[in-house]
Amino acid sequence: MRVVSIVGTRPQFIKVAPISWRSRDLCEHLIINTGQHYDPELSDDFFKELNIPSPVENLYSGSGNHGEQTAKILSRTEEVLLKLKPDRVLVYGDTNSTIAATLASVKLGIKTGHVEAGLRSFNRVMPEEINRIGTDHLSDLLFAPTKASLQNLVNEGLEEKSYLVGDVMVESLDYIKNKALAKKVSVSEKIFTTIHRAENTNSKERLQFVISNLAKSPVPIHLYAHPRLVRKAKEFSIELSQGSIKVFKSAGYLKTVTEILESKGVITDSGGLQKEAYLLGRPCLTVRSETEWSETIESGWNELDPNLNQISNQWWNNSREPINIKIFNGINSSTKILDILLK
Ligand code: UD1
Repeated sequence: MRVVSIVGTRPQFIKVAPISWRSRDLCEHLIINTGQHYDPELSDDFFKELNIPSPVENLYSGSGNHGEQTAKILSRTEEVLLKLKPDRVLVYGDTNSTIAATLASVKLGIKTGHVEAGLRSFNRVMPEEINRIGTDHLSDLLFAPTKASLQNLVNEGLEEKSYLVGDVMVESLDYIKNKALAKKVSVSEKIFTTIHRAENTNSKERLQFVISNLAKSPVPIHLYAHPRLVRKAKEFSIELSQGSIKVFKSAGYLKTVTEILESKGVITDSGGLQKEAYLLGRPCLTVRSETEWSETIESGWNELDPNLNQISNQWWNNSREPINIKIFNGINSSTKILDILLK
């Protein structure tokens, strides 16, 4: 059986890795890269680091407005799917690549599975929320990472095609964490930080507010700047290297995980990083008003702090419950997904 996974952004390269590893003895697994992310530190490096074969097709879709980017991915994916004729397609997460690939695939009548289904922020201003809802309602099989995400699918009447399989990111993170820990890792006074989301970067006032608050941190903020942040800061003439902030180029996965392990905590507006911080045992401040990963909040390891009110406090020192890796139930999720998909 031929299975095609369609990915295009950094978080999706991480999620496809365990599926690629486990599929080796079970089916023919091919990867299409939509090319939504094209900078090497956001794309090529991940394939090498995670030991996954290069994509069989790169669609070079690149950046653009939502309509333009989604449309390019949709039409190019359709063309390639007609050529590759897969029996099954897998899509991942909530990006423009996800919704475009899903549309192309289901309209060709190919059985399509959504990995990381059921996540909701209940904030329709986020482009990702629209992508998730659309993808879940269109796909044939929904692979939910957590109980809460499964419940969201049930609430939307999607129970029949939904499966609780755990989180594939646990497997990728475990692989990279072991590589990171093979070298000496020493914790120092710094906070690993990323800001890239449209809500925090698209308006000058908001971006200025976030950066000037980060600058007030009592310990160094190591800001790993996503290309979107760099571009927006330049457009608005905002200096990123202010006060406590030290700017670094967006890093590959091994470097990112090593840096998190060497930090006291994480500040981010990314979805995946909130979870990675938890699984690596680092407290997190999330620069958003809501999260799809409520489990990290309930355990006390993650705090929503959209206005960075905690920035001057020693927030990383608060006491918390021990980490419970079972929340993400991820040890065998790629095997569970493939079992259901290939049936
Ligand atoms: C996308 C996803 C977001 C995910 C993030 C992970 C959507 C709607 N958003 O956001 O959910 O959390 O990926 O990183 O799909 N750029 C480059 N080089 C690149 C890629 C992007 O310079 O390789 C710059 C461009 O200026 C581009 C901007 O970043 O216009 C935004 O890129 P885009 O792919 O549209 O969304 P992300 O912000 O990366």
